[in-house]
Amino acid sequence: MSEGLSLKKRWIEKRKRDQFYKKARELGYKSRAAFKLKEIQRRFKIIKAGYRVLDLGAAPGGWVQVSLEHVKPDGSVVGVDIKDLKIVDPNFIYIKGDVKEENTLTRILSIHSQYDVVLSDLSPNLTGIWSLDHERQIDLCYEALNISSKVLRRGGSLVLKVFDGPRSREFAEACKSRFKKFYRIKPKASRKKSSEMYFVCLVFKG
Ligand SMILES: C[S@@+](CC[C@H](N)C(=O)[O-])C[C@H]1O[C@@H](n2cnc3c(N)ncnc32)[C@H](O)[C@@H]1O
Repeated sequence: MSEGLSLKKRWIEKRKRDQFYKKARELGYKSRAAFKLKEIQRRFKIIKAGYRVLDLGAAPGGWVQVSLEHVKPDGSVVGVDIKDLKIVDPNFIYIKGDVKEENTLTRILSIHSQYDVVLSDLSPNLTGIWSLDHERQIDLCYEALNISSKVLRRGGSLVLKVFDGPRSREFAEACKSRFKKFYRIKPKASRKKSSEMYFVCLVFKG
């Protein structure tokens, strides 16, 4: 067996032992990431019935499923990703697109002119070179913050995944300048070893 193959096999075995992965499969969630948003939602109650939620980097769809549970019966979830996303639900709209392209913003705004909540679990393809992955992920965070500034209603909320590193402090300041309340959290479902954390930004200043 080649080294690449055995590494992949080890990763698959490790994932099978992961309690959140098992729980996601049992409960029918598309990803273990669902439990990160569940914890954030339990703490901050950001998503409410009737809300319009925009989910950036939505595939495979765990956060979409959790959001749908809260916005129903008459709210909606719009999910954006460069990858395919297979969720069929009358309250869900999928945009296949890149958050870096201007046209994606136009499409987002053509569905709703304003949103109550923006979620971003955006993550680049990882290279394993930590500094490069951090740079690319923070660039995606800025894209999400810029989109939020154009689509959120005054008082709205933004949740973002951030890879902690040299640029995360500067990015936190950019968030704080646009929102009245700011929290940094590491949900239990987020792997301890990973530099991933979440910024929860409440009360958009408009
Ligand atoms: C960690 S996954 C999101 C998981 C999702 N929250 C869930 O619950 O299943 C990150 C996603 O960001 C997407 N992504 C990365 N760069 C993107 C870009 N420039 N535009 C849109 N999506 C992007 C990836 O394709 C990937 O599906």
